[in-house]
Amino acid sequence: MTAEPMKPATLVSTILLLVLNGCAGHQQSAVDAAGPQAGRIETLFWFFLAILGAVFIIVMAAAAWTLTKRHRGIEQEPLERTHLPPPQTETRLTRVVTIATIATVVILFVLLVSSIVTGKGMAEFANSKNPMVIEVTGWQWWWQVRYQNSDPQQVLDTANEIHIPVGRPVMIRGTSQDVIHSFWVPNLHGKRDLIPSRITTEWIEADHPGVFRGQCAEFCGLQHAHMSVWVVAEPGDKFQAWFNSQLQPAPAPTDPVLQRGQQVFLNYACVYCHTIRGTTAAGQNGPDLTHFGTRQGLAANTLPNSMGNLGGWIVNPQSVKPGNHMATIAVNPDDLQPLLQYLQSLK
Ligand code: CUA
Repeated sequence: MTAEPMKPATLVSTILLLVLNGCAGHQQSAVDAAGPQAGRIETLFWFFLAILGAVFIIVMAAAAWTLTKRHRGIEQEPLERTHLPPPQTETRLTRVVTIATIATVVILFVLLVSSIVTGKGMAEFANSKNPMVIEVTGWQWWWQVRYQNSDPQQVLDTANEIHIPVGRPVMIRGTSQDVIHSFWVPNLHGKRDLIPSRITTEWIEADHPGVFRGQCAEFCGLQHAHMSVWVVAEPGDKFQAWFNSQLQPAPAPTDPVLQRGQQVFLNYACVYCHTIRGTTAAGQNGPDLTHFGTRQGLAANTLPNSMGNLGGWIVNPQSVKPGNHMATIAVNPDDLQPLLQYLQSLK
């Protein structure tokens, strides 16, 4: 499949989206922690920055001082200079180098210990009883999300948007379907690689409600930059209401246009990749669309979820996200509107 270069307008809107996402309420920021795990990482970051910043300033000041001093020396004694310093200078140099070496070792040791303490703290939830477990599987280029439960009736599949209850530790069990991806929601946790045929775990907890943006942090191919995920942290009752409604199969359409849209979806090749629970569509190679209409974004949040964007995405996915694996399906113009309305109605 040949990739077309991204159109300037798409590029500009993507950059704008990234900037706005970054600014609006710090939805994606490693220095605006929204939970204990990210808080530890943030503290460690500021600690490192303070110490290393001080070291940088001291080294630069010493270098500047040395340069100006040497300059004076050359002017004063241009002829008597030799490569060997006089004995008293030699002693002083030895002392300075010794002190600098000891200071370096001590500083590195302090950084090492603080890093280990942070790492140990990150594992504090590992003994949680009855944790919420969410399986996140990276695909080129979207996120498959499955809420695990010992009761199969309570297992929920969705994609590209994760809801979590505030104040409850959540275990993310990550893996990958194809290449190595990395799950990173900076406000909640550090990066964790998702590796094919391996499970990696991390714990997240949000201490206040919010909507946090995450993205893939490991180069995974052409559309690595368009692989983002929203994490919506909400109060427990609100989360439970969301969860219960997502567990339901898609509502059977009663409106004639929506009924037609459902038939369009089921008649085209959409069903080979997508599942809509409550219909015969049971494809497993693309995002579950059962409650697609409730999601904020489409194409792994490349675009906001709107009727117009959805139309553009279905008609020509390669112009929106070059190289992606969504099939380009020649949808009959008469079929497009009912299809769009049906997909948007999946609430
Ligand atoms: Cu997935 Cu980068």
